[in-house]
Amino acid sequence: EMLEKAGYDHFMLKEIHEQPRSIRDCMRGRIYPQAGQVQLGGIKEYAEKLRNADRIIIVACGTSWHAGLVGEYLIEEYARVPVGVEYASEFRYRNPIITERDIVIAISQSGETADTMAAIELAKERGATILGICNVVGSSIPRLTHGGVYTHAGPEIGVASTKAFTAQVTVLTLMALYIAQLRGTLPQSKLVELLSSLQDIPVLVEKALQCDGAAKYIASEIKDKTNAIFLGRGIGFPVALEGALKLKEISYIHAEGYPAAEMKHGPIALIDEEMPVVVIATQNSSYEKVISNIQEVKARKGRIIAIVTEGDTAVKALADYVIEIPDADEAFLPLLATIPLQLLSYYTACMRGCNVDQPRNLAKSVTVE
Ligand code: G6P
Repeated sequence: EMLEKAGYDHFMLKEIHEQPRSIRDCMRGRIYPQAGQVQLGGIKEYAEKLRNADRIIIVACGTSWHAGLVGEYLIEEYARVPVGVEYASEFRYRNPIITERDIVIAISQSGETADTMAAIELAKERGATILGICNVVGSSIPRLTHGGVYTHAGPEIGVASTKAFTAQVTVLTLMALYIAQLRGTLPQSKLVELLSSLQDIPVLVEKALQCDGAAKYIASEIKDKTNAIFLGRGIGFPVALEGALKLKEISYIHAEGYPAAEMKHGPIALIDEEMPVVVIATQNSSYEKVISNIQEVKARKGRIIAIVTEGDTAVKALADYVIEIPDADEAFLPLLATIPLQLLSYYTACMRGCNVDQPRNLAKSVTVE
């Protein structure tokens, strides 16, 4: 087993560090930056459907659902198709409105999640085209769907998903640009620009992984807390949700992810000097707004841990702790900002003596409803 962990203490840490490679593998043969082209062989048969779809519905559970929220942001932004993101378990138990002009994207690392499979069956019966985003080749979901794109992240052993999540986000980025290309919603020059930046992401993820020491240090500050809040806005919001999920899954610290602006409608009541507040505060379109949210936390003596863009000064002046990530186009924020949050949860769980790879009560794949 030690051999399989390649010298890392846990599979989770190994998988976190594999991300530059897994993201690169996920893009291999699929992007042609100079031509401004994305090719996705597994769904090209459905190009016409994607061009004419009225709506895209994403169904998933857990971490895969968070990837879906990132996908919603990217597909709406670039391809201008309305997207709804649904918990598979909720979707299947209501009477959802689905038409033959709808595309359903099912996201699942394992390809075996019972609720996601049931949601697919339902949408299929109602005539929708179903596309999958799965990691495990030959699993059940890819066999149920009409087409799909594998994430190629390699086997994920840690129960808490890390590299599968960033690979799902990578595939959704590719899909958003592919649909944009089909529907002509982006100028060619923008496609070229985005695809060349995307190609550089593995190198930037490698850089983001250098925050290991800072994450460990901050983990020692939150390891004895009982609660934590994670805040983000826009595309940073699903990142906050995923950060909170990671922390609760493996360290058993109660954590909530919230849209930063919604804090004033509830969670702000919880803030005092004992509450760590992790804020995605990178330099993007919501930067100024996030700074005012940080000020609101600070005024109530919350402990601010901020994920910032390299070279930031304004947030640094306010936060108790900062972790820097490299600068990149806003669309790629989730791929970079997730890295420090994974490490923060990992080290916090280790310091609390938790079983990081096999947290209590959780299963890698949930094949019962
Ligand atoms: C379980 C796992 C999670 C995962 C979720 C969905 O809860 O512990 O890590 O995100 O199932 O799994 P899937 O394989 O469908 O992505």
